[in-house]
Amino acid sequence: MTAIAEPSDLTELVHSATQRFARSDTPADLENAKAQFLGKAGRVTELMKGLGQLGIDEKKSRGAAINQAKQAIEAALNARRQALQDAELAQQLQAEALDVSLPGRARGMGGLHPISRAWERIEQVFASMGFDVADGPEIESDWFNFTALNNPPNHPARSMQDTFYVDLNDEQGQPYCLRTHTSPMQIRYATAHAKKHAAALARGEMSEIRVIAPGRTYRVDNDATHSPMFHQVEGLWLGENVSFKDLKVTYLNFCKAFFETDELSLRFRPSYFPFTEPSAEIDIQFSSGPLAGKWLEVSGSGQVHPQVVRNMGLDPERFIGFAFGSGIDRLAMLRYGVNDLRLFFEGDIRFLSQFR
Ligand code: DAH
Repeated sequence: MTAIAEPSDLTELVHSATQRFARSDTPADLENAKAQFLGKAGRVTELMKGLGQLGIDEKKSRGAAINQAKQAIEAALNARRQALQDAELAQQLQAEALDVSLPGRARGMGGLHPISRAWERIEQVFASMGFDVADGPEIESDWFNFTALNNPPNHPARSMQDTFYVDLNDEQGQPYCLRTHTSPMQIRYATAHAKKHAAALARGEMSEIRVIAPGRTYRVDNDATHSPMFHQVEGLWLGENVSFKDLKVTYLNFCKAFFETDELSLRFRPSYFPFTEPSAEIDIQFSSGPLAGKWLEVSGSGQVHPQVVRNMGLDPERFIGFAFGSGIDRLAMLRYGVNDLRLFFEGDIRFLSQFR
């Protein structure tokens, strides 16, 4: 008998390799185990080295048997590798598992602020009556906020508006202010378009200005019906023959559309503003609903003063018309039945969510 290991030894080798692999429970340990059997100094390699001492026939059959054993060991190794990988993946999936049955976090639906809603509505209604919509600065020069509106320095009418001044002077050496009303937009808008209108008139074409300018305004004021920041909408309609009658029709139609009712009447009450002559407050009265029977003041208004038309760069002989300035907050309070203006600006979600 030769001293060569019988195939039963190989069976034993495959068996012990398979066992060793099975005991490896990390990829690193499995690689160590692989080296013991298949590495350069591993047991299979050692057997291969022993082949050199054999005769040619034995070498052939023994070589084939060793190769077979080697393949079996490799197969066992690969199976174990795969098993470890599968286990790791399974563990990872387990750790990162999503509980899809958990209810999601609901996203609260926001809504437009009631003032924004009123503002948008005002723009829509006036746009439908052919009015342009303009926007301008909230930090305003003395000229636009007062002087061009026929309200020069030291004029007593200036004290009608308690003004926030900014620590910065304009070119005339007058301090800038937070605009106390949207009326400066009359001058800004008309001036910006004055050349176009003059040219149209020179060609003998009819030309007119029809604009509203909604926006934020500021005064030193704070109570249930006044806030230091509030909103106004300015209106201006100038043309060859625009009269108080047009103002009344326009404003009444606006109110009917804004409040969505025909049960509404309007009156003018004489008033004073430096930039209009004559001037009037506009009051409205509902004939039904919770506010029925009360006259409610909603706007200042008047026929634009000729000096103001001149300050716009227009000829008061050719351009006549009306202006108005209404409180958007006041209109919103009436439309939504809110009795304290401050509620609009406190940001209380219990109040605001009612308007979603
Ligand atoms: N600007 C005035 C104010 O804030 C309101 C006003 C009155 C605007 C008459 C006008 C107007 O355009 O013609 O008190």
